[in-house]
Amino acid sequence: MSHHDRYMTGFGNEFATEAIPGALPVGRNSPQAAPYGLYAEQLTGTAFTAPRHANRRSWLYRIRPAAVHGQFAAMEHAHFHNRFGDGPTTPAQLRWDPRPLPTQPTDFLDGLFTVAGNGGPAAQSGIGIHLYAANRSMQMRLFCDADGELLIVPQQGRLRIETELGVLEIEPQQIAVIPRGIRFRVHLPDGHARGYVCENFGAPFKLPDLGPIGSNGLANPRDFEIPVAAYEDVDGQFELVTKFQGHLWRAPMDHSPLDVVAWHGNCAPYRYDLRRFNTIGSISHDHPDPSIFLVLHSPSDTPGTSNVDFAIFPPRWLVAQNTFRPPWFHRNIASEFMGLVHGVYDAKADGFLPGGCSLHNCMTGHGPDAATFEKASHADLSKPDVIVDTMAFMFETRAVIHPTTQALAAPERQQHYIDCWQGLRKHFSPPA
Ligand SMILES: [Fe+2]
Repeated sequence: MSHHDRYMTGFGNEFATEAIPGALPVGRNSPQAAPYGLYAEQLTGTAFTAPRHANRRSWLYRIRPAAVHGQFAAMEHAHFHNRFGDGPTTPAQLRWDPRPLPTQPTDFLDGLFTVAGNGGPAAQSGIGIHLYAANRSMQMRLFCDADGELLIVPQQGRLRIETELGVLEIEPQQIAVIPRGIRFRVHLPDGHARGYVCENFGAPFKLPDLGPIGSNGLANPRDFEIPVAAYEDVDGQFELVTKFQGHLWRAPMDHSPLDVVAWHGNCAPYRYDLRRFNTIGSISHDHPDPSIFLVLHSPSDTPGTSNVDFAIFPPRWLVAQNTFRPPWFHRNIASEFMGLVHGVYDAKADGFLPGGCSLHNCMTGHGPDAATFEKASHADLSKPDVIVDTMAFMFETRAVIHPTTQALAAPERQQHYIDCWQGLRKHFSPPA
């Protein structure tokens, strides 16, 4: 593949890119003969008739159409699936240590491990939550998820994601989003990688409306980077693995599917650097709801209620006065899966490690641990605090997130997580 490392910028714009000058037809999407003998192929990410502002589709000009491959055969994967909640779902607070890196040769696809999820691809609603841990690059094998869009959050090691529409290079504290159905393979420039994946079965991720915040702030559209077209014209024994309705299917191909020479449209993979997030918070008192940290969300059919919110907790100043500065104790109708990419999370003194994760479901009480509560209750608020060394994130959903049987049984699960709140003593002292 031509090693382009160039990007276009903007969110949801109508992009146009060609790896060979003149490969994009002008004035029509499917001319009788596309330039250079290419095939024209449309990829839609929303209903044909979705409103214009929500409509996503791209036109691909490629060496062979996507339909050219061998027969699909069912493929087993020991720990990557959509079987959420095989038994009754516990309301318990759950937390896990990081999964160790593999010792056997394991690529990105092999290394996926499903932790939790809700809904499913059949209803086009809900999410799958997966971890990955890998130690070798995908070579002649490509992956494609027909069930959902993939939000990839690396925690350790860079990823070079070669997609039909171009190459995304990301490192920890950056994210990549691969639209439903786009074929790709993952190289590991550092030889190993670990991180998190949100498989979004619902509407594509979009930037939130900003309301009274105004026209700037949070994740700004120009910081989203979309790859320029890059292709390979390679014949060989390739394998296409497709996730379809919760199961994997493999089909042989006699050529690389990364053969898109030019494309235009707004259905495309992208990357974003979380360190560019413009974090907004209280400059008087109280801690705002975590929606103030929203990067991207997948809306549901109910206004204001997301299928999934992707929020981050980046470095920031805490200046609110007369206030308990860490996140308060709470119970939400939403369900919260959290991960830690880097550093320390300010609501926990220990136990929540980079690469680890936690799950607090609908109406399950949680919040700062006893050590954090004691510290913050007596902190000197005359001075600002600055949190420099942190990057936590949350996948927050309207529906309960069911942990998988394998996640509940995993040795990384912290059996005594609940103990972090047991030291919260009674301070109540009513007037005599
Ligand atoms: Fe929470």
